[in-house]
Amino acid sequence: MNPETPNPFRLLHIDASARPGLSGQDRHGSHTRRLSRRFIRRWSESRPLDVVTYRDVGGAPPDPVSGDWIAAAFCPPARRDAGQRAVLAQSDRLTAELIAADLVVIGAPMYNFGLPAQLKAWIDNIVRVGMTFGFDRARAGEPYWPMLPPGKRLVILTARGDFGYGEGGRLAAMNLVEAGLKVPLAYIGLNDSDTVAIEYDEFGDDRLSASIAAAETAVDHLVGTLLANRRAGGQPSTTPFFATSPK
Ligand SMILES: Cc1cc2nc3c(=O)[nH]c(=O)nc-3n(C[C@H](O)[C@H](O)[C@H](O)COP(=O)(O)O)c2cc1C
Repeated sequence: MNPETPNPFRLLHIDASARPGLSGQDRHGSHTRRLSRRFIRRWSESRPLDVVTYRDVGGAPPDPVSGDWIAAAFCPPARRDAGQRAVLAQSDRLTAELIAADLVVIGAPMYNFGLPAQLKAWIDNIVRVGMTFGFDRARAGEPYWPMLPPGKRLVILTARGDFGYGEGGRLAAMNLVEAGLKVPLAYIGLNDSDTVAIEYDEFGDDRLSASIAAAETAVDHLVGTLLANRRAGGQPSTTPFFATSPK
């Protein structure tokens, strides 16, 4: 066994761009797919025995939640009939993938200031009562609590056409992408994250080239930092989403 890989790490790699190709390689290719592919390649070069699960929600979107889905999800598992179990089968698979993952790497384009509907559909399928969050209206204090196993980390690799969406930027207040991922994922217990962004896609000029180059450098640096932390046996901090501790 590779001495670098005493305990295989599990990565969940999600792409959400509606564009199938990769920028720099395919005409009209996706920047977020390019960054997520690079992240996973760099990681796997160092730790080839780690397990990568891939979900292309941009190419094969999960079904959005329906009335039947809601009724089944909020029905106690022991009382679900065969039809309800079938309605939840896809959501069960997506949720199991998230629960198993140590590191979640998401290529998340900005569409109309927020998440693509395909990625929102994934979120809606993995925020599951009794699986990723608990709810008890009779509970003292906060009636909700996160249920994901601790120690996971989120990497958001995003791209936008305009510029200035980063912290302190001219459009920062209109950027709903990072919050659209971080808030629901923290709610279920995934609190720690890093973000790398490409800007200027709509301009297609030197600023886009510079932004891509900077983002690729940042991805390489982030992989190096996360691998070093992992080698040192460090765990990411786990700031609880709610003030009250889980039951
Ligand atoms: C439907 C759609 C909506 C978009 N909305 C925005 C937006 O609100 N703000 C912005 O800066 N760019 C917007 N863009 C540009 C994308 O964020 C940009 O093309 C980005 O590179 C997409 O990610 P991808 O390259 O991985 O496909 C939009 C693009 C599309 C296709």
